[in-house]
Amino acid sequence: MILEGKRIILGVTGSIAAYKAADLASKLTQAGAEVHVILTPAAQQFITPLTFHSITHQPVVTGWWQPENGGAIQHVALAETADAVVIAPATADAVAKLAHGLADDPLGGTVLATRAPVLIAPAMDAHMYENPATQANVRLLESRGVRFVGPEAGRLASGLTGLGRLSAAETILGALRQMLGRGGDYEGKTVVVSAGPTEEPIDPARHITNRSSGKMGFALAEAARDRGARVVLVTGPVALASLYGVAVVRIRTALELQAALAKAMAGSDILIMSAAPADFRPAAVSAQKIKKGPEDAMSLDLIKNPDILAGLSGDFIKVGFAAESQELVQNAGIKLRDKGLDLIVANDITAPDSGFGVDTNRVLLIDREGTVEALPLLTKAEVANRILDRLVRFSHR
Ligand code: CTP
Repeated sequence: MILEGKRIILGVTGSIAAYKAADLASKLTQAGAEVHVILTPAAQQFITPLTFHSITHQPVVTGWWQPENGGAIQHVALAETADAVVIAPATADAVAKLAHGLADDPLGGTVLATRAPVLIAPAMDAHMYENPATQANVRLLESRGVRFVGPEAGRLASGLTGLGRLSAAETILGALRQMLGRGGDYEGKTVVVSAGPTEEPIDPARHITNRSSGKMGFALAEAARDRGARVVLVTGPVALASLYGVAVVRIRTALELQAALAKAMAGSDILIMSAAPADFRPAAVSAQKIKKGPEDAMSLDLIKNPDILAGLSGDFIKVGFAAESQELVQNAGIKLRDKGLDLIVANDITAPDSGFGVDTNRVLLIDREGTVEALPLLTKAEVANRILDRLVRFSHR
């Protein structure tokens, strides 16, 4: 949502990774941004303006002297109205030029003329990146507030392996969103989010778990990051990509979740407990795989896990979730009171479009004063922002 309506300048320079910039332009456009691409002359050897024009539906800048785009004056105007500049991929040459303020192409001129934040995603040969000249240029730019994302280690176009690969489009997007969120309403706050299920081992081959996908927790962590927060995400086993700029702590069992949260909450401002810890765990974990035997039935002894949320207290805002299949408001209200919460997010897990696994959610927000707010069916990203909208109004206890 943070990219909706934002004017982003995407500078593409002459690296073989330039083709990946088309995917980035597409993802930015799909996220609602207005994307203005500037191609350096070298970039045009690798990819054409038509590719970017077709994706962004905006004119593509290819040189200082394009009368149809208003020439040099137009580029300065673009620099002044941009919300952010992203240069991906940035070659060693581009990094050097930018560090020294060269403006012999529209990208250099735009970066000089803009007051918008600048993000650079380098891609080059590993030795070029490690060269003291490049490293000094990177540090110089960083000292002026320019941000870098990557490069990553991996296989390079030369066939060698090293540090120089362009970061994935999702990573660059994450870094951009975090950069745009600087100074947001959560700036200076530390938000801890728990996500996903827990796994309670039975033996080396088996465990007890539940259907939590972690999507709601990841959406909350991402939204808090995009609003300027420092975010710690404590997550059970999930099949979701990690989030740029979010500190992740991976846990397996409810007891591990409890220990990780106790540690993470020191000095934190908000806890949002969207994880689904198992309420019970096997009383004993078998060191060996349990064999079938001749009996037709077997039983497993379970013991109760601690109520993690109820047991955590301190000078922070506490938010819980309530997964209910009946008497939603009443049951959620009881959990709000019993667990000492400031806010509870209640959802009916029997509705097909909300709750486990899906990308949408329909929830009720009930606060400690008893106010009930019913949200319509929203994406989990939208629900996350609505929860954060609510919390920002709470004062510290
Ligand atoms: N929770 C917790 N520790 C547990 C179980 C749940 O901290 N052992 C948290 C969940 O993360 C959630 C809230 O408590 O924020 C409510 O979880 P939910 O599963 O809805 O309820 P339970 O407390 O487990 O109660 P019940 O299963 O009886 O509905």
